[in-house]
Amino acid sequence: MSKTKLQFVHHPHPSPVPADKRAELLKNPGFGRVFSDHMVTIRYHESKGWYDARIEPRAPIPMDPAAAVLHYAQEIFEGLKAYKTKDGGATMFRPTENARRFQKSADRLAMPSLPEELFVEACDLLVKTDRAWIPDGDGASLYIRPFMFANEIFLGVKPSSDYLFIVIASSVGSYFKTDAPAVSLWVSQEFTRAAPGGTGAAKCGGNYASSLLAQAEATRHGCDQVVFLDAVEQKWVEELGGMNIFFVFDDGSMVTPPLGGTILPGITRSSLLTLAKDKGIKVREDRYSIDQWRTDARSGRLREAFACGTAAVVTPIGTVRSKDGEFKIGNGGPGTQTEDLKSALVGIQRGHTADKYGWIHKV
Ligand code: PLP
Ligand code: COI
Repeated sequence: MSKTKLQFVHHPHPSPVPADKRAELLKNPGFGRVFSDHMVTIRYHESKGWYDARIEPRAPIPMDPAAAVLHYAQEIFEGLKAYKTKDGGATMFRPTENARRFQKSADRLAMPSLPEELFVEACDLLVKTDRAWIPDGDGASLYIRPFMFANEIFLGVKPSSDYLFIVIASSVGSYFKTDAPAVSLWVSQEFTRAAPGGTGAAKCGGNYASSLLAQAEATRHGCDQVVFLDAVEQKWVEELGGMNIFFVFDDGSMVTPPLGGTILPGITRSSLLTLAKDKGIKVREDRYSIDQWRTDARSGRLREAFACGTAAVVTPIGTVRSKDGEFKIGNGGPGTQTEDLKSALVGIQRGHTADKYGWIHKV
């Protein structure tokens, strides 16, 4: 029975991808290119609220060229993962946190608030329907992408009266294409990601559009990801294009940049803060400058650094490059504390270790 008043209408796919073709696609899915058979859609109009909830075959969506999102980028999204369980079911990691962040992003972008339980129910429904698309294997999962955009046909600049909420799912392996044991970062000194008072803490498409040139610069310099500094002093390390960051020192203590409105409040970040504290690790949310980073890496005071996020999970950082040169972190490969925290997190996510935090949501 539906947990909300809105009932989903089911339109099963008349010709889903055949099992042998699907198995082929799931062998090595990469990231974000292989999609499941269905999608969930819910519409919103300011006069009637949320309506017309369905699950239907994943297909192109007809749009008017004057739809507001195409002009003023009123769009937000989320990212979370679903895992297969041995009993024939599936789980998701902390979906309610994604639902809450979605509401906060909506608020910042002057969009309507989707009830938490409707968000989770929509994800549940898609995972249940498309469970066969969850790949097997250590680093593999079904990446769930809920998103919402302004759909009013109007060119005036104002919050839209109509929205479309959609959930799609993509069978994924590792986010990074590199086989290297650790990733390399390019420090963006020309471009910043988010300014105080801006949309840095919201998961809106515009933040990613504005990061692309910096990411292209990173790629040009042979780096896997861009790392942004704060927009005011261009000094403090904030986050990567699509991940938060942690630093591990020689005494085992850790630092991660504080949330202050310009950084995305990562659910992986928050989970790792909890896990680290429970392991007795001294971990601070504190500012850390690029100069400190360089000095500490060279002196050996900084032992490890890693990126974290839903797509990236926990990824060791080996090399940092900028216009001022390059430095290595530790031996340039994964560090033991990074690996230890990663296995604690992944163990819970994949159901290999007990979940004493209540983070695992059974679909
Ligand atoms: N920072 C940015 C800019 C991101 O895009 C993401 C990914 O969602 C994260 C951090 C990590 O957030 P989470 O751990 O909730 O996936
Ligand atoms: C995620 O980790 O879910 C993200 O949205 C990051 C993006 C780079 C794929």
